[in-house]
Amino acid sequence: MTRIATSLLATVLLAAPLGAAAAPADAEVEQVYLKNCKNCHGADGKAETKMGKKHDIDSFADPAWQARHSDEKIRDAIANGVKDTKMKAYGKKLSPEQIDALVRYVRAFGGGQAAPAKEGEANQ
Ligand code: HEC
Repeated sequence: MTRIATSLLATVLLAAPLGAAAAPADAEVEQVYLKNCKNCHGADGKAETKMGKKHDIDSFADPAWQARHSDEKIRDAIANGVKDTKMKAYGKKLSPEQIDALVRYVRAFGGGQAAPAKEGEANQ
């Protein structure tokens, strides 16, 4: 009995670091975002930056913004840019995997939905 309890405990303790295995990828996408996007969209996605104000950039944290943007639309904007704006195309600079990760990263600003996004990743 004690042994079972101990092994259960060990399983739980082992499972925790395994569950955090996605962290390096998250850290990478964070770096990609901070390097390429932060200047305009802000570290918090709210675009409370000089560029954000100047170009009237929407906040990714706004639920209405999240509601009217599909993943496809976000991916398209990152890969191909937004015509007639300062939003440039990143399709050549970043890999498709990095762009997919950025889509989830932008989504997560809409209320910290990081967990469901990770489940989606596992299903792909
Ligand atoms: C030079 C400033 C600038 C940089 C850098 C920048 N953006 Fe943008 N972004 C804009 C502007 C301007 C718009 C258009 C205004 C708006 O949609 O609010 C925009 C729009 C967007 C949109 C919404 C597109 C739509 O259809 O509504 C997304 C998503 C986006 N950017 C993601 C990113 C990501 C991810 C990065 C980094 C890889 C990035 N942006 C880098 C300025 C920038």
